[in-house]
Amino acid sequence: MLDVRGLRVEFRTRDGVARAVNGVDLRVAAGETLAVLGESGSGKSVTAQAVMGILDTPPGHITGGEVRFRGRDLLTLPEEQRRRLRGAEMAMIFQDALSALNPVLTVGDQLAEMFLVHRGTSRREARARAVELMDRVRIPAAAQRARDYPHQFSGGMRQRVMIAMALALEPALIIADEPTTALDVTVQAQVMDLLAELRREYAMGLVLITHDLGVVADVADRIAVMYAGRIVEEAPVHDLYKAPAHPYTRGLLDSIPRLDRKGTELDAIRGLPPSLTDIPPGCAFHPRCPRARDECLTDVPPLYAAGEDRGSACHFWRECLHDAG
Ligand SMILES: Nc1ncnc2c1ncn2[C@@H]1O[C@H](COP(=O)(O)OP(=O)(O)O)[C@@H](O)[C@H]1O
Ligand code: SF4
Ligand SMILES: [Mg+2]
Repeated sequence: MLDVRGLRVEFRTRDGVARAVNGVDLRVAAGETLAVLGESGSGKSVTAQAVMGILDTPPGHITGGEVRFRGRDLLTLPEEQRRRLRGAEMAMIFQDALSALNPVLTVGDQLAEMFLVHRGTSRREARARAVELMDRVRIPAAAQRARDYPHQFSGGMRQRVMIAMALALEPALIIADEPTTALDVTVQAQVMDLLAELRREYAMGLVLITHDLGVVADVADRIAVMYAGRIVEEAPVHDLYKAPAHPYTRGLLDSIPRLDRKGTELDAIRGLPPSLTDIPPGCAFHPRCPRARDECLTDVPPLYAAGEDRGSACHFWRECLHDAG
């Protein structure tokens, strides 16, 4: 359904060129959930913006690649058609619902607007469907709360409102960019469960962007790990957890707090991700990699086929797999 190939995005600013996305391939089948995982600044949001057609241009420019969605090449589609696609066929959920929602419209009116504008339903019908949707995302006393403004909702409830907005027109694909990052842990789990449940119910494709490997295990079918604007590992979720084929993924897994290792130090990955204006040569991960050897400093690793249905951009993926299993 979604097929992204060789996507490249750069930001041209006074401080230089930030190469935010450097040849990203992503595929999402209908009804599938793909998690895109990576530390802050790895290019996840920019990838999502380029796919949705909401990239800030300038300073952001798509400099290469293809985004195919249900057979159409989105990057060459006229803006008018892209706009119609957004909401109706692909929708986005953002981290910060408060800035994504309109502060001067009640939540019920914002939801109703979707049906009025895109479906041409009557005002009365649109309102009824808005309340129905709020009920669907389990906002208590939906009919009453439809008359409230976004700031009157708690963070978790507001995130449910945004999920309702995204679902309204029953799109084939939803991209959720850190949808639970701003919430506390209990609410995070509830919102994530709701999202997973609705995804099944509506049989949508879901791209779930997160920096938190802990939240995706139960929800995702596949994981794509991003580092410095590239996918460094991609695999079915269980394979990746069982045996990562990239040292960066290994590092991420080792930094998840685990009950059975209570009291021991977390093995966080040393150092920081690179600035995208100054990506290290060779393998971008080499300054932080415990396995790095001479060739890692000069040779950019391609995404090697590391078994059936998985890939790793590490010259030594075989050793990673071997040591993991
Ligand atoms: N509006 C912008 N102007 C300039 N550079 C930007 C802008 N948005 C993103 N970038 C660059 O792209 C990089 C990746 O950003 P982003 O995709 O938001 O990372 P994340 O993985 O945390 O979502 C940033 O570190 C920055 O260098
Ligand atoms: S290619 Fe080299 S530096 Fe990069 S992840 Fe593999 S071992 Fe580490
Ligand atoms: Mg982001």
